[in-house]
Amino acid sequence: MWFGVDMAATDPLAGQDITVLRTRDACVRALRDPALGSNPGGPAAESGNLLFSDGPEHARVRAVVREVIARIEPLPGEVRRAIEDAVGALSGEFDLVDDFARPVASLVTTAMLGAGPLDARFLRDLEATTANLDVWFGGSGAARGAETAALRVAMFFLRAEAVPGGGLELLRAARDAGRLTDDELTLTPGVLAHAAYENSRNFLAVAGLRMAGEPDLVAALRAGGAAVVRRLAGEICPTRVVLRRALEPVTLPDVAIEAGAKVAVPLGPVAEVPGSAGAAFGLGRHACPGSGVAIAEAEVALRALAQVFADGATPGPPQWRPHPAFHGLTHAPVTTPLV
Ligand code: HEM
Repeated sequence: MWFGVDMAATDPLAGQDITVLRTRDACVRALRDPALGSNPGGPAAESGNLLFSDGPEHARVRAVVREVIARIEPLPGEVRRAIEDAVGALSGEFDLVDDFARPVASLVTTAMLGAGPLDARFLRDLEATTANLDVWFGGSGAARGAETAALRVAMFFLRAEAVPGGGLELLRAARDAGRLTDDELTLTPGVLAHAAYENSRNFLAVAGLRMAGEPDLVAALRAGGAAVVRRLAGEICPTRVVLRRALEPVTLPDVAIEAGAKVAVPLGPVAEVPGSAGAAFGLGRHACPGSGVAIAEAEVALRALAQVFADGATPGPPQWRPHPAFHGLTHAPVTTPLV
């Protein structure tokens, strides 16, 4: 069984003027159909944001972004060691978001962009930029706060010293070579940082919480293997839906979409089918170009956490983070026995 609709995940879309696709065939067709664009319309249309663009403009920026990501493929030894050290130091009472997922995702984002350190204030701003995606859901006060946060993130990268051989250096060289516009150079480091950081943070924290209740999963992760991590990613699917807008009338299996209509494409597992997997990294021209990094990062981090959980782990009450598109946690306390 592949992806379908988790009604709990799409509940927040109720009352929105958005068509939620209901079948696997419709989802696959939607993600492959160029008539369903990624541009929500309005001011975002002109923003130079990779996530909101289509066609040759999107392909051009995406090619540069793929080169940035390739700079940390395979995941460098020093990044692996930094993750193992940070996770290996955890014991007793700690929080799977603050003390595990956030530092790991931040280490990888820093390494990819070759700029930093990404301090607590920067990470708060980066996390707040998520609400900019709420442009799909009709905009809100939260989105206005997110614009200020996104501006601070952009300013950070404009001023940052670029580490030689890092992603920021590559992006600046791409602008100098005419491969990116000035606007794209202003936005792309933040978009890339957010894409890498937000999904990984959500995935790692939720995976850690699952491990705290499943000794078999801890054992499987201690043994290692990208396959276990891939399966977990498909079950957790930190991005629950992606959004598209019809550039012209589109007919999908079971549903006709009018020109201009917004469409939610669920990626998550089917709630009624235990063990079913979703399409965690999406499909089609916007499919995640960082999936290899995400799996490598999680393999190292979850194996190190499995070592920390070797004598058991007791989860406290988790705080889930309600968002129509992202599945994640705000807090997830956990305690390991003192040995
Ligand atoms: C578990 C972790 C991750 C998950 C589940 C995930 C999932 C996704 C999904 C579903 C999309 C498609 C969005 C759409 O179709 O509109 C996407 C896009 C993207 N992801 Fe990831 N991602 C993860 C980690 C990463 C990492 C580590 C990087 C960078 C190293 C990254 C970079 C990107 C970029 C740049 C895009 C935009 C691609 C485009 O619009 O063409 N992601 N991701």
